[in-house]
Amino acid sequence: MKIVSLKAYEILDSRGNPTVMVKCKTENGVVGVAKVPSGASKGKNEALELRDGNSRYGGKGVLKAVRNIEDEISRTIVGKNVFDQYSIDRTLINLDGTPDKSRLGANAILGVSLAVAHAAANVLGIPLYRYIGGVSGRILPTPLMNFINGGAHADNNLDIQEFMIVPLKFDRFRDKVRCGSEVFHTLKRILKDKGLNTGLGDEGGYAPNLASHREALNLLIEAIEKAGYKPGEQVFIALDCAASSFYNEEEGVYEFEGKKLSGRELSEIYAEYIETYPIISIEDPFAEEDYESWKSFTEKFGKKIMIVGDDIYTTNPKLIRKGMENGYSNAVLIKLNQIGTLTETLEAIEMTKSFGWKPIISHRSGETEDTTIADLAVATNAGWIKTGSVARSERVAKYNRLIEIEWEMGI
Ligand code: PGA
Ligand code: ZN
Repeated sequence: MKIVSLKAYEILDSRGNPTVMVKCKTENGVVGVAKVPSGASKGKNEALELRDGNSRYGGKGVLKAVRNIEDEISRTIVGKNVFDQYSIDRTLINLDGTPDKSRLGANAILGVSLAVAHAAANVLGIPLYRYIGGVSGRILPTPLMNFINGGAHADNNLDIQEFMIVPLKFDRFRDKVRCGSEVFHTLKRILKDKGLNTGLGDEGGYAPNLASHREALNLLIEAIEKAGYKPGEQVFIALDCAASSFYNEEEGVYEFEGKKLSGRELSEIYAEYIETYPIISIEDPFAEEDYESWKSFTEKFGKKIMIVGDDIYTTNPKLIRKGMENGYSNAVLIKLNQIGTLTETLEAIEMTKSFGWKPIISHRSGETEDTTIADLAVATNAGWIKTGSVARSERVAKYNRLIEIEWEMGI
């Protein structure tokens, strides 16, 4: 089934910044659509998001990426078989010719890669998770729900970027979502009663100013309990520290709660959190170049909790392999736009699993209503998904898609 056209548009993401939308049409008139997300706390090795850099949208326009799709990429991809995902992705990588996809833009390349996959699924008349995962895609992921936002995602005083609850001990996905929603609304009441701000951060969690990070953790525990659930039995806690964002590279110290800390001192604080709270996962506990801290922390806690690499790996199979050889972590955050094609993302997931590590499929802080990651999580039996809070439609869209898939599967 031949691809007959690729159309691209400059649209908006959830922060009101431009992003790329792609429509891929096949010879029988079927269309596949993808919309590309965008991060705020990025790893240094991420594939490059091409921005225009002129006066429009404060330099964030994506008309160059749109033009690259409609000119150069179209000329190469139109006429190809929509089912040749691997070959199309390889062609895009080779056409770009740079290691970080900076010539054509990873936003252009990912938009095309995903639009092709959606078109292929639509041609077959099957859902995307079925197209990608075949008969083996069957596991609904457990969500890590980000209810208190800090760091680069909020204007408050929290250094840690994400305080998440993990509704784990429920059989069905929709019961996990219900638990999350009930805890979320209970948390709002608690914040209100304490006179704290209930405005939302970029990923839909609350973003109050708090006296300490422990206060954020205490609030989550209180909300879980008051909503009628048992922390440490049914519902657990996860953190994304995004520590590169509070690492002072020149001095080699972490600027955390107003103090300057070494990697070892920061590890000790995390150790105390793990002692006190039912934490099952910590993402980016250290800066992406602070390999020693990653390694010794994983040696100490790798049997007990998930230690998740995001900025340190940027969904890049080569970096994930290096992490495995050196024992930096035991889990990997998977973001399609960090690497830039579906094929490479699937490779990163496969590699992660082949070490016995856990993949967590993830959104970006700048999102759209696109729900590809929900299908990807089911298709690959990843087991985990990080897609923000249960408020803001760009986050909720993924939960709703997973609820739909669960019903479709007859679970
Ligand atoms: P980002 O944040 O999309 O702003 O990079 C998400 C994360 O760090 O996991
Ligand atoms: Zn992260």
